Amino acid sequence: MSLIKLRIEGLRNLLPVSIEPAPRLNYIVGPNASGKTSLLEAIYLLSRARSFRSPNAHQLVQFGAPLLTVSGQVVSPEADIATIGVQLAKGHREIHLKGRPLVSSAALMRVFPLLVIQPSGIALLEGPPKLRRNFMDFGVYHQDPDYLDGWRRYTRALHHRNALLRASRVRELTPWNHEMARYGIMVHEARTAYLEQLKPLFEEIGGRFFNDTPLGLRIHPGWDINQPLETILDKEHQLDLRYGHTQAGPHKGDFSVLFGHKPVKGLVSRGQMKLLVYALLLAQAGLMEERHGSSGCVLIDDIASELDEPNQQALMNILAGRKTQFFITATHRDARVTQGSAGVGVFEIAQGRIIKA
Ligand SMILES: Nc1ncnc2c1ncn2[C@@H]1O[C@H](COP(=O)(O)OP(=O)(O)OP(=O)(O)O)[C@@H](O)[C@H]1O
Ligand SMILES: [Mg+2]
Repeated sequence: MSLIKLRIEGLRNLLPVSIEPAPRLNYIVGPNASGKTSLLEAIYLLSRARSFRSPNAHQLVQFGAPLLTVSGQVVSPEADIATIGVQLAKGHREIHLKGRPLVSSAALMRVFPLLVIQPSGIALLEGPPKLRRNFMDFGVYHQDPDYLDGWRRYTRALHHRNALLRASRVRELTPWNHEMARYGIMVHEARTAYLEQLKPLFEEIGGRFFNDTPLGLRIHPGWDINQPLETILDKEHQLDLRYGHTQAGPHKGDFSVLFGHKPVKGLVSRGQMKLLVYALLLAQAGLMEERHGSSGCVLIDDIASELDEPNQQALMNILAGRKTQFFITATHRDARVTQGSAGVGVFEIAQGRIIKA
């Protein structure tokens, strides 16, 4: 999938604009506060109907404007064109897909899958396990949309079990233990299979930055895998009662990235962490590409931040070899990116005005 048309009106500091992105590499260059991240937020809205930066999407609405409208056309590998429209105002959200209103934004993500790599993205490796669970679950879901159903059933059983624990209704736990074990194992196995598939791609991309250091991925199930989950849930509820929530299960799952056979947390530099995040997310996009013939698109905010020149060069080489559509922001024009090369577009942005260079 790639974005072939984009129209923005009333979003942050951006002046109303219509652009036709290039199929592969879109380079957005402008000084600080010119509106580069805002442009990426506009694209993100078409996939998720929310912002990746502000918790409240209505913060995207331009000061003084009643609402914002972003619309776009996305083309699939089979050349089907889908029109997406999102309109936001305080307390109001309207989404249209192929001319029909949508209540939930979930369908957008399938029509227009999208990944973001941003300076705060190293939280994926340094932050709480929830971020890494979301990363795995997003990846699995794009491999197999049915995963969502099993994941929801697991989460529902977990919530029921936790409510019973808080009410000390221990005798009623058994059916929920059974349900949690059934779907919990499914979630864990799907995540494990996903990381197995991701690993060679991650190692290959990561190897372009760190050719001397072996890389790896290791899953943490969230319980002692040597025992059946149901047995643990049945027998060890004393601890759960004390904490008021369930201690074992894939909701406690995680994975670590191994750098020279050791977990990266607290080991590598910020720049190295950033490169590992690039390798992980580009591997994820690569798997989506293998699966669907296209990975949707990847937004990279502030590409140069924290990377030295050789690593920037290595990254540009990796991006140049991919079929994915990228939207990349930078404060300075990169001499390696030339307007007019096949599939490449350069957009300059100043004080909210976007023009094709
Ligand atoms: N709701 C809004 N209405 C109007 N302007 C806004 C709104 N929210 C933020 N802004 C302004 O929009 C401008 C553009 O912000 P943006 O973060 O997109 O810039 P940027 O080009 O990504 O900058 P940097 O290089 O520093 O990351 C900023 O000056 C910001 O204060
Ligand atoms: Mg920015």
